Amino acid sequence: MANNVKIIYNNQSYSFPIIEGSENEKAIDIKQLRSKTGFITYDPGYKNTGHCISNITYLDGENGILRYRGYSIDELCKKTTFLEVCYLLIFGELPTKQQLDKFQFDINKESLVDEHVKEIFHSFPKSAHPMGVLSSLTSAMIAFNPKNENKLSLKESAKSENDKILYNSTVKLLAKFPILSSWTLRKIKGLPLNYSSDRFNYVENIAYLMFAKPNQEYVQNDIVVNALNSLLILHADHEQNCSTSTVRIVGSSYAGLFASISAGISALWGRLHGGANQAVIEMLELIKNDNSNINKYIDKAKDKNDPFRLMGFGHRVYKNFDPRAKIIKKATDQVLNDLGIDDPVLDIAKEIESKALNDPYFIEKKLYPNVDFYSGIIYRALGIPIDMFTVIFALGRIPGWIAQWKEMRESNSPIGRPRQLYNGPNERSIK
Ligand code: CMC
Repeated sequence: MANNVKIIYNNQSYSFPIIEGSENEKAIDIKQLRSKTGFITYDPGYKNTGHCISNITYLDGENGILRYRGYSIDELCKKTTFLEVCYLLIFGELPTKQQLDKFQFDINKESLVDEHVKEIFHSFPKSAHPMGVLSSLTSAMIAFNPKNENKLSLKESAKSENDKILYNSTVKLLAKFPILSSWTLRKIKGLPLNYSSDRFNYVENIAYLMFAKPNQEYVQNDIVVNALNSLLILHADHEQNCSTSTVRIVGSSYAGLFASISAGISALWGRLHGGANQAVIEMLELIKNDNSNINKYIDKAKDKNDPFRLMGFGHRVYKNFDPRAKIIKKATDQVLNDLGIDDPVLDIAKEIESKALNDPYFIEKKLYPNVDFYSGIIYRALGIPIDMFTVIFALGRIPGWIAQWKEMRESNSPIGRPRQLYNGPNERSIK
Protein backbone atom coordinates (compact mmCIF):
# COMPACT_ATOMS: atom_id res chain seq x y z
CA MET A 1 0.00 0.00 0.00
CA ALA A 2 1.21 3.51 -0.81
CA ASN A 3 2.74 5.32 2.11
CA ASN A 4 2.24 8.79 0.74
CA VAL A 5 -0.39 10.94 -0.92
CA LYS A 6 0.20 13.09 -3.96
CA ILE A 7 -1.32 16.47 -4.66
CA ILE A 8 -1.09 17.44 -8.32
CA TYR A 9 -1.53 21.11 -9.09
CA ASN A 10 -0.49 23.01 -12.23
CA ASN A 11 1.20 19.85 -13.53
CA GLN A 12 3.40 19.70 -10.50
CA SER A 13 3.25 16.79 -8.06
CA TYR A 14 3.78 17.16 -4.31
CA SER A 15 4.09 14.19 -2.02
CA PHE A 16 2.94 13.99 1.62
CA PRO A 17 3.52 11.05 3.97
CA ILE A 18 0.70 8.93 5.39
CA ILE A 19 1.02 8.29 9.11
CA GLU A 20 -0.84 5.58 10.98
CA GLY A 21 -2.02 5.26 14.58
CA SER A 22 -1.88 2.09 16.70
CA GLU A 23 -5.52 1.28 15.74
CA ASN A 24 -4.74 1.73 12.00
CA GLU A 25 -6.27 5.19 11.78
CA LYS A 26 -4.67 7.06 8.91
CA ALA A 27 -3.69 10.70 8.50
CA ILE A 28 -1.98 12.73 5.81
CA ASP A 29 0.95 14.55 7.34
CA ILE A 30 0.63 18.05 5.86
CA LYS A 31 3.15 19.80 8.11
CA GLN A 32 5.02 20.92 4.99
CA LEU A 33 1.99 21.73 2.84
CA ARG A 34 2.39 25.49 2.90
CA SER A 35 6.16 25.55 2.55
CA LYS A 36 5.98 23.15 -0.42
CA THR A 37 2.85 24.39 -2.21
CA GLY A 38 1.92 27.82 -0.81
CA PHE A 39 -1.52 26.46 0.14
CA ILE A 40 -3.17 26.14 3.52
CA THR A 41 -6.13 23.85 4.29
CA TYR A 42 -9.62 25.19 5.06
CA ASP A 43 -11.45 23.14 7.71
CA PRO A 44 -13.89 25.15 9.87
CA GLY A 45 -14.52 23.48 13.22
CA TYR A 46 -11.44 21.26 12.52
CA LYS A 47 -13.79 18.52 11.35
CA ASN A 48 -10.94 16.71 9.55
CA THR A 49 -7.92 18.11 11.34
CA GLY A 50 -5.78 16.07 13.72
CA HIS A 51 -3.78 18.49 15.83
CA CYS A 52 -1.79 16.02 17.88
CA ILE A 53 -0.67 12.42 18.21
CA SER A 54 -1.94 11.12 21.53
CA ASN A 55 -1.57 7.94 23.60
CA ILE A 56 -4.45 8.68 25.98
CA THR A 57 -7.90 7.95 24.56
CA TYR A 58 -9.04 5.91 21.58
CA LEU A 59 -12.42 6.72 20.09
CA ASP A 60 -14.00 5.01 17.08
CA GLY A 61 -17.13 7.03 16.30
CA GLU A 62 -18.39 4.64 13.61
CA ASN A 63 -18.33 1.62 15.94
CA GLY A 64 -19.12 3.37 19.22
CA ILE A 65 -15.80 2.47 20.89
CA LEU A 66 -14.23 4.51 23.70
CA ARG A 67 -11.11 3.36 25.55
CA TYR A 68 -8.79 5.07 28.00
CA ARG A 69 -5.18 3.90 27.58
CA GLY A 70 -6.54 0.74 25.94
CA TYR A 71 -9.22 -0.14 28.54
CA SER A 72 -12.89 0.05 27.51
CA ILE A 73 -15.03 2.48 29.49
CA ASP A 74 -17.46 -0.35 30.13
CA GLU A 75 -14.82 -2.44 31.91
CA LEU A 76 -13.43 0.59 33.77
CA CYS A 77 -16.92 1.44 35.08
CA LYS A 78 -17.39 -2.12 36.31
CA LYS A 79 -13.98 -2.74 37.86
CA THR A 80 -12.33 0.53 38.89
CA THR A 81 -12.82 3.68 40.91
CA PHE A 82 -12.72 7.16 39.43
CA LEU A 83 -9.45 7.90 41.25
CA GLU A 84 -7.82 4.85 39.64
CA VAL A 85 -9.01 6.16 36.27
CA CYS A 86 -7.54 9.59 37.08
CA TYR A 87 -4.20 7.89 37.74
CA LEU A 88 -4.49 5.81 34.58
CA LEU A 89 -5.19 8.82 32.38
CA ILE A 90 -2.53 11.04 33.90
CA PHE A 91 0.29 8.53 34.42
CA GLY A 92 -0.48 5.93 31.75
CA GLU A 93 -1.13 2.79 33.87
CA LEU A 94 -3.64 1.73 36.51
CA PRO A 95 -2.07 2.26 39.94
CA THR A 96 -0.84 -0.48 42.24
CA LYS A 97 -2.44 -0.45 45.69
CA GLN A 98 0.62 1.37 47.03
CA GLN A 99 0.56 4.00 44.26
CA LEU A 100 -3.16 4.56 44.77
CA ASP A 101 -2.76 4.96 48.54
CA LYS A 102 0.01 7.50 48.04
CA PHE A 103 -2.03 9.39 45.42
CA GLN A 104 -5.04 9.55 47.76
CA PHE A 105 -2.76 10.56 50.66
CA ASP A 106 -1.17 13.38 48.63
CA ILE A 107 -4.61 14.61 47.55
CA ASN A 108 -5.83 14.54 51.16
CA LYS A 109 -2.86 16.70 52.18
CA GLU A 110 -4.10 19.43 49.80
CA SER A 111 -7.64 19.49 51.05
CA LEU A 112 -7.69 22.94 52.55
CA VAL A 113 -8.63 26.09 50.68
CA ASP A 114 -6.89 29.42 51.29
CA GLU A 115 -9.08 31.80 53.31
CA HIS A 116 -8.60 34.48 50.62
CA VAL A 117 -9.97 32.11 47.98
CA LYS A 118 -12.95 31.65 50.27
CA GLU A 119 -13.37 35.44 50.37
CA ILE A 120 -13.34 35.57 46.56
CA PHE A 121 -15.93 32.78 46.53
CA HIS A 122 -18.16 34.71 48.93
CA SER A 123 -17.95 37.83 46.77
CA PHE A 124 -19.81 36.12 43.88
CA PRO A 125 -23.57 36.75 43.87
CA LYS A 126 -25.73 33.78 44.83
CA SER A 127 -27.22 33.90 41.35
CA ALA A 128 -23.82 33.40 39.63
CA HIS A 129 -23.65 30.30 37.42
CA PRO A 130 -21.35 27.73 39.11
CA MET A 131 -19.33 27.20 35.91
CA GLY A 132 -18.36 30.89 35.81
CA VAL A 133 -17.46 30.80 39.50
CA LEU A 134 -15.32 27.67 39.04
CA SER A 135 -13.53 28.98 35.99
CA SER A 136 -12.65 32.14 37.96
CA LEU A 137 -11.59 30.27 41.11
CA THR A 138 -9.43 27.84 39.12
CA SER A 139 -7.76 30.82 37.50
CA ALA A 140 -7.38 32.43 40.93
CA MET A 141 -5.45 29.34 42.08
CA ILE A 142 -2.51 30.72 40.04
CA ALA A 143 -2.25 33.73 42.34
CA PHE A 144 -2.16 31.49 45.40
CA ASN A 145 0.27 28.95 43.91
CA PRO A 146 2.63 31.00 41.72
CA LYS A 147 5.32 28.30 41.91
CA ASN A 148 3.01 25.86 40.13
CA GLU A 149 2.54 28.06 37.11
CA ASN A 150 4.60 29.10 34.10
CA LYS A 151 7.77 27.73 35.59
CA LEU A 152 8.03 24.49 33.66
CA SER A 153 11.39 24.86 31.93
CA LEU A 154 12.07 23.46 28.47
CA LYS A 155 15.43 22.11 29.57
CA GLU A 156 15.81 18.32 29.82
CA SER A 157 18.00 18.87 32.92
CA ALA A 158 14.96 20.37 34.67
CA LYS A 159 12.82 17.25 34.07
CA SER A 160 12.74 15.94 37.60
CA GLU A 161 11.94 19.40 38.99
CA ASN A 162 9.19 19.82 36.34
CA ASP A 163 7.73 16.42 37.20
CA LYS A 164 7.52 17.42 40.86
CA ILE A 165 5.82 20.74 40.05
CA LEU A 166 3.35 19.07 37.73
CA TYR A 167 2.56 16.34 40.28
CA ASN A 168 2.01 18.99 42.91
CA SER A 169 -0.33 20.97 40.59
CA THR A 170 -2.18 17.75 39.76
CA VAL A 171 -2.91 16.76 43.36
CA LYS A 172 -3.83 20.37 44.20
CA LEU A 173 -6.39 20.47 41.40
CA LEU A 174 -7.81 17.04 42.18
CA ALA A 175 -8.09 18.00 45.86
CA LYS A 176 -9.50 21.49 45.58
CA PHE A 177 -11.80 21.27 42.57
CA PRO A 178 -14.34 18.99 44.33
CA ILE A 179 -14.35 21.30 47.36
CA LEU A 180 -14.89 24.44 45.28
CA SER A 181 -17.52 22.62 43.20
CA SER A 182 -19.41 21.50 46.28
CA TRP A 183 -19.28 25.04 47.66
CA THR A 184 -21.13 26.31 44.59
CA LEU A 185 -23.79 23.67 45.21
CA ARG A 186 -23.95 24.39 48.95
CA LYS A 187 -24.35 28.10 48.24
CA ILE A 188 -27.30 27.37 45.92
CA LYS A 189 -28.86 25.17 48.61
CA GLY A 190 -28.10 27.62 51.44
CA LEU A 191 -25.87 25.11 53.27
CA PRO A 192 -22.71 26.10 55.20
CA LEU A 193 -19.40 25.44 53.40
CA ASN A 194 -17.49 22.34 54.45
CA TYR A 195 -14.15 20.63 53.85
CA SER A 196 -13.04 17.19 52.70
CA SER A 197 -12.96 14.30 55.12
CA ASP A 198 -10.18 11.71 54.90
CA ARG A 199 -12.61 9.10 56.24
CA PHE A 200 -13.73 8.62 52.66
CA ASN A 201 -12.23 7.61 49.34
CA TYR A 202 -12.18 10.17 46.53
CA VAL A 203 -15.71 9.72 45.15
CA GLU A 204 -17.25 9.06 48.57
CA ASN A 205 -15.73 12.36 49.66
CA ILE A 206 -17.30 14.19 46.71
CA ALA A 207 -20.71 12.87 47.79
CA TYR A 208 -19.97 13.84 51.39
CA LEU A 209 -18.88 17.35 50.35
CA MET A 210 -22.06 17.87 48.37
CA PHE A 211 -24.66 16.22 50.55
CA ALA A 212 -23.57 16.40 54.24
CA LYS A 213 -26.03 18.51 56.23
CA PRO A 214 -25.25 20.57 59.35
CA ASN A 215 -26.27 19.01 62.69
CA GLN A 216 -27.12 15.70 61.06
CA GLU A 217 -25.03 12.58 61.04
CA TYR A 218 -23.88 11.95 57.46
CA VAL A 219 -24.90 8.51 56.22
CA GLN A 220 -23.40 7.50 52.92
CA ASN A 221 -25.78 6.35 50.21
CA ASP A 222 -23.96 3.68 48.19
CA ILE A 223 -26.37 3.99 45.25
CA VAL A 224 -25.39 7.65 44.95
CA VAL A 225 -21.66 6.93 45.32
CA ASN A 226 -21.69 4.10 42.76
CA ALA A 227 -23.65 6.18 40.25
CA LEU A 228 -21.28 9.13 40.73
CA ASN A 229 -18.27 6.84 40.29
CA SER A 230 -19.53 5.60 36.91
CA LEU A 231 -20.64 9.04 35.73
CA LEU A 232 -17.27 10.57 36.58
CA ILE A 233 -15.41 7.74 34.80
CA LEU A 234 -17.59 8.16 31.71
CA HIS A 235 -16.75 11.87 31.56
CA ALA A 236 -13.05 11.52 32.38
CA ASP A 237 -11.65 12.00 28.87
CA HIS A 238 -12.89 12.24 25.31
CA GLU A 239 -9.81 12.99 23.22
CA GLN A 240 -9.74 16.26 21.26
CA ASN A 241 -13.14 17.79 22.06
CA CYS A 242 -13.72 21.55 22.34
CA SER A 243 -12.64 22.01 25.98
CA THR A 244 -9.66 19.62 25.77
CA SER A 245 -8.40 21.30 22.61
CA THR A 246 -8.80 24.60 24.46
CA VAL A 247 -6.71 23.29 27.36
CA ARG A 248 -4.02 22.10 24.95
CA ILE A 249 -3.98 25.28 22.89
CA VAL A 250 -3.86 27.59 25.92
CA GLY A 251 -1.08 25.47 27.43
CA SER A 252 0.83 25.46 24.14
CA SER A 253 1.73 29.12 24.69
CA TYR A 254 3.35 28.03 27.97
CA ALA A 255 0.47 29.26 30.06
CA GLY A 256 0.33 27.06 33.17
CA LEU A 257 -1.95 24.17 34.08
CA PHE A 258 -4.42 26.15 36.23
CA ALA A 259 -4.80 28.88 33.57
CA SER A 260 -5.32 26.26 30.85
CA ILE A 261 -7.90 24.32 32.87
CA SER A 262 -9.75 27.49 33.76
CA ALA A 263 -10.09 28.11 29.99
CA GLY A 264 -11.23 24.48 29.53
CA ILE A 265 -13.99 24.99 32.11
CA SER A 266 -15.25 28.01 30.15
CA ALA A 267 -15.19 26.04 26.89
CA LEU A 268 -17.10 23.16 28.50
CA TRP A 269 -19.81 25.50 29.78
CA GLY A 270 -21.40 26.07 26.35
CA ARG A 271 -24.60 24.17 25.57
CA LEU A 272 -23.23 22.53 22.43
CA HIS A 273 -20.61 20.89 24.68
CA GLY A 274 -20.86 20.11 28.44
CA GLY A 275 -23.68 22.62 28.98
CA ALA A 276 -25.94 20.30 26.99
CA ASN A 277 -26.82 18.27 30.12
CA GLN A 278 -28.48 21.35 31.65
CA ALA A 279 -30.07 22.24 28.28
CA VAL A 280 -31.57 18.72 27.99
CA ILE A 281 -33.47 18.97 31.27
CA GLU A 282 -34.63 22.50 30.38
CA MET A 283 -35.86 21.13 27.03
CA LEU A 284 -37.61 18.14 28.62
CA GLU A 285 -39.32 20.43 31.14
CA LEU A 286 -40.37 22.75 28.32
CA ILE A 287 -41.92 19.83 26.44
CA LYS A 288 -43.60 18.50 29.58
CA ASN A 289 -45.14 21.92 30.26
CA ASP A 290 -46.34 22.07 26.65
CA ASN A 291 -48.70 19.09 27.10
CA SER A 292 -45.81 16.68 26.41
CA ASN A 293 -46.21 17.52 22.74
CA ILE A 294 -43.13 15.61 21.59
CA ASN A 295 -43.98 15.66 17.87
CA LYS A 296 -44.07 19.46 17.89
CA TYR A 297 -40.47 19.60 19.19
CA ILE A 298 -39.20 16.89 16.87
CA ASP A 299 -40.64 18.90 13.96
CA LYS A 300 -39.05 22.09 15.29
CA ALA A 301 -35.66 20.31 15.50
CA LYS A 302 -35.98 19.24 11.86
CA ASP A 303 -37.03 22.69 10.62
CA LYS A 304 -34.04 24.50 9.09
CA ASN A 305 -35.70 27.87 9.78
CA ASP A 306 -36.10 27.11 13.48
CA PRO A 307 -33.01 27.44 15.70
CA PHE A 308 -34.36 24.73 18.04
CA ARG A 309 -32.25 21.55 18.22
CA LEU A 310 -32.87 18.35 20.14
CA MET A 311 -30.41 18.86 22.97
CA GLY A 312 -28.50 15.73 23.93
CA PHE A 313 -28.69 14.48 20.35
CA GLY A 314 -25.92 14.32 17.76
CA HIS A 315 -22.19 14.25 18.08
CA ARG A 316 -19.20 15.39 16.05
CA VAL A 317 -17.53 11.99 16.13
CA TYR A 318 -20.16 9.36 17.07
CA LYS A 319 -22.06 8.35 13.96
CA ASN A 320 -23.57 5.12 15.26
CA PHE A 321 -24.12 5.46 18.99
CA ASP A 322 -22.41 7.13 21.92
CA PRO A 323 -21.21 4.26 24.14
CA ARG A 324 -21.37 6.55 27.18
CA ALA A 325 -25.08 7.23 26.53
CA LYS A 326 -25.81 3.48 26.41
CA ILE A 327 -24.28 2.94 29.86
CA ILE A 328 -25.92 6.07 31.29
CA LYS A 329 -29.38 5.13 29.98
CA LYS A 330 -29.15 1.78 31.78
CA ALA A 331 -27.84 3.46 34.93
CA THR A 332 -30.69 6.02 34.85
CA ASP A 333 -33.32 3.28 35.08
CA GLN A 334 -31.37 1.57 37.85
CA VAL A 335 -30.71 4.71 39.93
CA LEU A 336 -34.30 5.98 39.71
CA ASN A 337 -35.57 2.52 40.58
CA ASP A 338 -33.13 2.09 43.50
CA LEU A 339 -33.93 5.54 44.87
CA GLY A 340 -37.66 5.03 44.32
CA ILE A 341 -37.96 8.14 42.14
CA ASP A 342 -40.51 8.55 39.40
CA ASP A 343 -39.43 11.38 37.11
CA PRO A 344 -41.97 12.06 34.33
CA VAL A 345 -39.28 13.59 32.10
CA LEU A 346 -37.62 10.15 31.85
CA ASP A 347 -40.65 8.87 29.94
CA ILE A 348 -40.56 11.94 27.70
CA ALA A 349 -36.84 11.37 27.06
CA LYS A 350 -37.41 7.72 26.15
CA GLU A 351 -40.23 8.60 23.80
CA ILE A 352 -38.15 11.29 22.09
CA GLU A 353 -35.33 8.79 21.66
CA SER A 354 -37.58 6.13 20.23
CA LYS A 355 -39.30 8.59 17.81
CA ALA A 356 -36.04 10.18 16.68
CA LEU A 357 -34.33 6.84 16.10
CA ASN A 358 -37.13 5.93 13.70
CA ASP A 359 -37.28 9.29 11.93
CA PRO A 360 -35.53 9.60 8.53
CA TYR A 361 -34.11 13.06 9.44
CA PHE A 362 -32.20 11.68 12.44
CA ILE A 363 -31.34 8.39 10.70
CA GLU A 364 -29.87 10.11 7.62
CA LYS A 365 -27.86 12.57 9.67
CA LYS A 366 -26.76 9.80 12.07
CA LEU A 367 -28.02 11.67 15.14
CA TYR A 368 -28.17 9.56 18.31
CA PRO A 369 -28.55 10.39 22.01
CA ASN A 370 -25.20 11.51 23.42
CA VAL A 371 -23.73 11.39 26.93
CA ASP A 372 -25.81 14.39 28.01
CA PHE A 373 -29.23 13.04 27.06
CA TYR A 374 -29.84 10.94 30.17
CA SER A 375 -27.16 12.17 32.58
CA GLY A 376 -29.19 15.18 33.77
CA ILE A 377 -32.04 12.88 34.84
CA ILE A 378 -29.64 10.96 37.09
CA TYR A 379 -28.10 14.15 38.48
CA ARG A 380 -31.55 15.41 39.35
CA ALA A 381 -32.41 12.10 41.04
CA LEU A 382 -29.21 12.42 43.09
CA GLY A 383 -30.41 15.81 44.36
CA ILE A 384 -28.08 17.97 42.25
CA PRO A 385 -29.58 21.29 41.09
CA ILE A 386 -29.74 21.90 37.35
CA ASP A 387 -27.12 24.72 37.34
CA MET A 388 -24.66 22.19 38.77
CA PHE A 389 -24.95 19.54 36.04
CA THR A 390 -22.11 20.85 33.91
CA VAL A 391 -19.98 21.13 37.06
CA ILE A 392 -20.26 17.35 37.52
CA PHE A 393 -19.09 16.96 33.91
CA ALA A 394 -16.14 19.25 34.72
CA LEU A 395 -15.35 17.28 37.90
CA GLY A 396 -15.09 14.17 35.76
CA ARG A 397 -13.10 15.84 32.98
CA ILE A 398 -10.35 17.30 35.21
CA PRO A 399 -8.06 14.21 34.92
CA GLY A 400 -8.50 14.13 31.13
CA TRP A 401 -7.55 17.80 30.85
CA ILE A 402 -4.51 17.26 33.09
CA ALA A 403 -3.40 14.19 31.10
CA GLN A 404 -3.79 15.98 27.75
CA TRP A 405 -2.01 19.12 29.00
CA LYS A 406 0.85 16.99 30.37
CA GLU A 407 1.17 15.02 27.12
CA MET A 408 1.12 18.23 25.07
CA ARG A 409 3.84 19.80 27.21
CA GLU A 410 6.01 16.69 27.42
CA SER A 411 5.93 16.22 23.65
CA ASN A 412 7.13 19.80 23.14
CA SER A 413 4.07 20.56 21.07
CA PRO A 414 4.41 23.76 19.01
CA ILE A 415 2.25 26.75 19.90
CA GLY A 416 -1.29 26.29 18.53
CA ARG A 417 -1.82 28.90 15.85
CA PRO A 418 -4.18 28.13 12.95
CA ARG A 419 -4.24 30.17 9.77
CA GLN A 420 -7.11 31.83 7.93
CA LEU A 421 -8.26 32.96 4.50
CA TYR A 422 -8.61 36.72 4.57
CA ASN A 423 -11.73 37.90 2.75
CA GLY A 424 -12.02 41.53 3.92
CA PRO A 425 -11.41 44.79 2.07
CA ASN A 426 -8.24 45.20 -0.01
CA GLU A 427 -5.84 47.97 0.94
CA ARG A 428 -7.51 51.38 0.97
CA SER A 429 -6.83 54.88 2.32
CA ILE A 430 -8.81 57.05 4.73
CA LYS A 431 -10.54 59.72 2.61
N1 CMC B 1 -31.06 18.38 16.48
C1 CMC B 1 -31.41 18.59 15.19
N2 CMC B 1 -30.54 18.59 14.15
C2 CMC B 1 -29.26 18.37 14.44
C3 CMC B 1 -28.80 18.14 15.76
C4 CMC B 1 -29.75 18.14 16.79
N3 CMC B 1 -29.39 17.93 18.05
N4 CMC B 1 -27.47 17.95 15.75
C5 CMC B 1 -27.09 18.06 14.47
N5 CMC B 1 -28.16 18.31 13.67
C6 CMC B 1 -28.13 18.45 12.19
C7 CMC B 1 -27.57 19.79 11.80
O1 CMC B 1 -28.57 20.78 11.65
C8 CMC B 1 -26.87 19.46 10.51
O2 CMC B 1 -27.84 19.42 9.49
P1 CMC B 1 -27.45 19.86 7.97
O3 CMC B 1 -26.42 18.87 7.53
O4 CMC B 1 -28.76 19.75 7.24
O5 CMC B 1 -26.93 21.25 8.06
C9 CMC B 1 -26.36 18.04 10.70
O6 CMC B 1 -27.23 17.47 11.69
C10 CMC B 1 -24.93 17.96 11.20
O7 CMC B 1 -24.83 18.76 12.38
P2 CMC B 1 -23.62 19.74 12.68
O8 CMC B 1 -24.09 20.80 13.63
O9 CMC B 1 -22.99 20.21 11.40
O10 CMC B 1 -22.62 18.74 13.39
P3 CMC B 1 -21.43 19.13 14.33
O11 CMC B 1 -20.53 17.97 14.35
O12 CMC B 1 -20.85 20.45 13.91
O13 CMC B 1 -22.12 19.37 15.77
C11 CMC B 1 -23.13 18.91 17.87
C12 CMC B 1 -22.22 18.38 16.74
C13 CMC B 1 -22.99 17.98 19.07
C14 CMC B 1 -22.66 20.31 18.29
C15 CMC B 1 -24.60 18.93 17.36
O14 CMC B 1 -25.02 17.63 17.05
C16 CMC B 1 -25.55 19.57 18.37
O15 CMC B 1 -25.72 20.79 18.36
N6 CMC B 1 -26.20 18.74 19.27
C17 CMC B 1 -27.03 19.28 20.34
C18 CMC B 1 -26.14 19.76 21.50
C19 CMC B 1 -25.57 18.60 22.29
O16 CMC B 1 -26.26 17.65 22.65
N7 CMC B 1 -24.26 18.70 22.60
C20 CMC B 1 -23.57 17.69 23.43
C21 CMC B 1 -22.54 16.93 22.66
S1 CMC B 1 -21.96 15.47 23.57
C22 CMC B 1 -21.12 16.11 24.95
C23 CMC B 1 -19.78 16.56 24.58
O17 CMC B 1 -18.86 15.69 24.51
O18 CMC B 1 -19.59 17.76 24.35
